[in-house]
This record gives sequence, structure tokens and C-alpha cells, in this order.
Amino acid sequence: MEVKFIPTEQLKEKPDENALGFGNYFTDYMFTMDWTKEKGWHNAVIEPYGSIQLDPASMVLHYAQETFEGLKAYKTKEGKVLLFRPDMNAKRFANSNRRLCMEVLPEEMFVDAIATLVSREKEWIPTIEGTSLYIRPFMFATESAVGVHPSNAYKFMIVLSPVGAYYPEGVNPVKIYVEDEYVRATKGGTGFAKCGGNYAASIAAQVKAEKLGYTQVLWLDGVERKYVEEVGTMNAMFIIDRKIITAPCDGTVLPGVTRDSVIQLLKSWGYVVEERPLAIDELMEAGRNKTLQEAFGTGTAAVISPIGELSYKGESIIINDFQTGEITQRLYDTLTGIQWGKLEDSFHWTY
Ligand code: COI
Repeated sequence: MEVKFIPTEQLKEKPDENALGFGNYFTDYMFTMDWTKEKGWHNAVIEPYGSIQLDPASMVLHYAQETFEGLKAYKTKEGKVLLFRPDMNAKRFANSNRRLCMEVLPEEMFVDAIATLVSREKEWIPTIEGTSLYIRPFMFATESAVGVHPSNAYKFMIVLSPVGAYYPEGVNPVKIYVEDEYVRATKGGTGFAKCGGNYAASIAAQVKAEKLGYTQVLWLDGVERKYVEEVGTMNAMFIIDRKIITAPCDGTVLPGVTRDSVIQLLKSWGYVVEERPLAIDELMEAGRNKTLQEAFGTGTAAVISPIGELSYKGESIIINDFQTGEITQRLYDTLTGIQWGKLEDSFHWTY
């Protein structure tokens, strides 16, 4: 892929690595590329980060044909730059785009564009513990038309943001509200796709949970509101009687890259992992009788995030005395160790 480069006139000042938060700062450059029926993918440019112009009738603004991804770049002690399983994001991006009838970006172009932009911006990769460079690729419909149909033009972009922990709690346990009014996904819908619309529809529940003092919601299935699905920005895993249980990826749950990596790690350590529907009643009962040993979320932004409390229909259960559990900690240390190039990458995950 040929990428044009437009230099910036003024490099930005880099933020304090100790106070990054999540998604607050953006680097000097961004990647943009267009697709039309006539020209295919064209006009790949790395240019100064800044506003873009859109026609008010751009279809994304009306019918939300938009998909995105999230992954991170890390810098090793030796100064080498690592990406974590970008091929998995490329595949999921393609699946999301297929579901939304959008143009599919070839997987090698997706990875190539990220690698090219990140190489140029490597000075922006923070190095203190718990930080990384968050990579946000996204695509949206740019045809100007007020009529519902697949757009015949798209823009693909990548922006980069140096980040710290996603939650203000850092790697400490979070409090989760089990949502039994709103739903996130139903079979046949877009639950498995990473599209902005899924997140737009989730905000009402998130606002409600925050008002009640919780960090995020745990979604239940959209039909019976009986089975546990995922947490707002991460997949959820529960350790009951030494078995790890997580919702299956059968159309309503986001197939997380961290989720997949954690399952492989746990199995390699000899744990039994069950990908099956887990009833909220079974989970609450396990919390009451203390067979629920640990709970945690997995996600690119959240990494491994311990869950310390679950609240459902007015009842609260505290998990592992609101402490980070042994397996949760081991997963966090191993995963971040591989991502940072500190531990042997026996799965060949880093790029
Ligand atoms: C991620 O984990 O990368 C996500 O996309 C979650 C969130 C920041 C939307």
C-alpha cells in the first residue's frame, strides 16, 4: 500500500505519563483512506491529526454505518514496538463490516496501515507501568444520500491515544450493576459486531448504573433476561468451584481478543473453561454460598479488571472480599508480561 505523508507544522507537547487517563490525548498524526465503488481503496494518507470535513448528508450521520476496533502498542525495555494480535482485530473488523453491509478492508491492509502509523508515532508510546498507546481504527459511510441503503463510499481512519487505565479504579476491583431493564443485544442483531450503534444504545444503562454508584453494567440476554452476557466494555468471566465460566460467542457477545487470549492461557494452565450460558440466579447463588471465588472482565481497554461487587434486583454480593483474586492477578501479570515483551511469547501473539 502506498501511503502519502503530509508533515505537520508544529509537533504537540507530550502529556504527563502519570496523568493520562483514557482517550484524552491524541498524537500528531492520523491515517485516512477512502473507498468508492469506482476507485476501490485509494488516497491513503498519514497527515496531521485534525478535523475532517463531512457533507451533512453523509450516511453515517443518519443511519450509523460505522464500525471500529481497539488495540494497543507497547514499547519494550529495548525500545522495540509490539502490537498484540492485530490479525484478530483485522478479522473482527471485517466481520463487523460484513454485518453492517460496509466495505471489507483486506486484513493485511488493516495491519499494514496500523504498523505504518504506529512506527511514525513511536515516540508517543508511553513507557510507565500500566500505560500504552491505544489504537483506534474506524470506518464510516460517506455517501451523501438520505435514503437507507448500503453506502457506496467509506472512509477508514486510525487515530492514536496514549492511555493509562480505562477505569478510574485502575487495576482495583470494580462494582458492577446487573441490568435487568435495558438490553444490549439479541440473536440476529449486531451484538457480535463492534459498531458505534451498540455503544450508543448502551449509554442509558451506563448512566443509570453510574447514578447508583456502579462503574459498569453486566448485561443479561435480550430475550429472557436470565443469562449473563458481558459487561459494558469487556467480556465477563466467573470462577465458580475452580471452573471458569463465560458466555459463549454465539452472536450476542463481542468476541474479545483478550477473552480469547485468556481462555487459551487458562486452558494451558490446566483450568476447565466453560463457554456456556450462565444463569444470573446460579451466579447470585454462587455469590451467596461463596463458591463464586473470583470474577473479572477482559478487554483491550480494561485489560483484566477484577469485579468486586455485583448488584442484582436490590441484592449485592461481594466477591473475594473485594480483593483481586489469585487467578485474576496471574492472568493480568502474564498477559501484560507478554504484551510488554517481558515474558516469553509462547503463543506467538506479539507482532
Ligand atoms: C476496547 O476495549 O478497546 C474497547 O473498544 C472498549 C471501549 C473503549 C469502547
